[in-house]
Amino acid sequence: MSVSALEFTRKLSAHPKSAQERAAILADPGFGNHFTDHTAVVDYRAGESGEGSWQEARIEPYGPIPMDPAAAVLHYGQEIFEGLKAYRHADGSIVTFRPEANAARLNASARRLALPELPEELFLESLRQLVDVDRDWVPTGDGEALYLRPFMIATEAFLGVRPAREVSYRVIASPAGNYFGGELKPVSIWLSTKYARAGRGGTGEAKCGGNYAASLIAQMEGEAHGCKQVLFLDEANDNAVEELGGMNVFFVFKDGRLVTPALSGTILHGVTRSSVLQLGRDRGLDVQERKITLNEWRDGVASGDITEVFACGTAAVITPIGELKSEDFTVGSPDAAAGEVTMSIREQLLGIQTGTVEDTHGWLTRLA
Ligand SMILES: Cc1ncc(COP(=O)(O)O)c(C=O)c1O
Repeated sequence: MSVSALEFTRKLSAHPKSAQERAAILADPGFGNHFTDHTAVVDYRAGESGEGSWQEARIEPYGPIPMDPAAAVLHYGQEIFEGLKAYRHADGSIVTFRPEANAARLNASARRLALPELPEELFLESLRQLVDVDRDWVPTGDGEALYLRPFMIATEAFLGVRPAREVSYRVIASPAGNYFGGELKPVSIWLSTKYARAGRGGTGEAKCGGNYAASLIAQMEGEAHGCKQVLFLDEANDNAVEELGGMNVFFVFKDGRLVTPALSGTILHGVTRSSVLQLGRDRGLDVQERKITLNEWRDGVASGDITEVFACGTAAVITPIGELKSEDFTVGSPDAAAGEVTMSIREQLLGIQTGTVEDTHGWLTRLA
């Protein structure tokens, strides 16, 4: 890529939030409710022969996206996204966690959704540029961060099913507190038996909007039963545990095994998942990526072999799972205490991300 393609122009917001307004938001950011003053944008156009280029990299004021009503994304859902966080360290620097893994996953999603790949350096630069201009939006509270949401949409105006020739890549940012709100405590999750989020050859491994649209009905069912997230199984594979609607899942065994479902083609390659696997190996746990069925989960909790279950993802980091509920049975208890291994890995991971624990794997990248 040429150097000029990396040069972002800047048009600053004429109406940024005042320092007081920003302080009021940062005092209690919640999750996904508020957005910073700017956005990063890079457009793509396919050339005559098909091979296209990324152009007009820029920082713009945050605001509505001008789009033709016939834009392909609105009709055929050609869209992908990412999620990662920027943390303010004690020395004032702003740092992010394994962004090259997100860049690689964005491109894996792009290939699956027939969207153009974005050079890793352009991905990283878009984050640097946005965080630089909106640096005052990075919260400093315990467990808080600036959530970065890169996404790519098909903007070409046409009706017809083929890959769009015009695409827009954007990044927005949102100050974030605890994903599940309030104090960290074990969550209840709902077992979806009626709905699947992914199937063989489908898009389960891609981070595309359609997967999440497909999971909403199950999510609503779960919420009606007092659950925060939904667990999906692979019914055609002995009810193998897959993942939650927005998180991967881990099991801690009494004998020191740390088990997570193997990446089967239908599970998202979580960056947190891969980091937890590494931290597990570092502390000498017997780390296993393999098939784990619903029956093994039920039997393991009943016999005491499985001592802890937790969910992990960028948004909620590591969250203990207290109980799994379904129409017919319950595993665990909503009052279960957070497990020791779960909390210890959570603290280590958060410590690395926020700069209080040494980053021995070189996972941090300074953005500003
Ligand atoms: C379906 C799904 N699984 C797992 C994850 C966890 O991935 P990560 O750890 O990269 O945030 C996410 C969140 O991105 C997700 O949406």
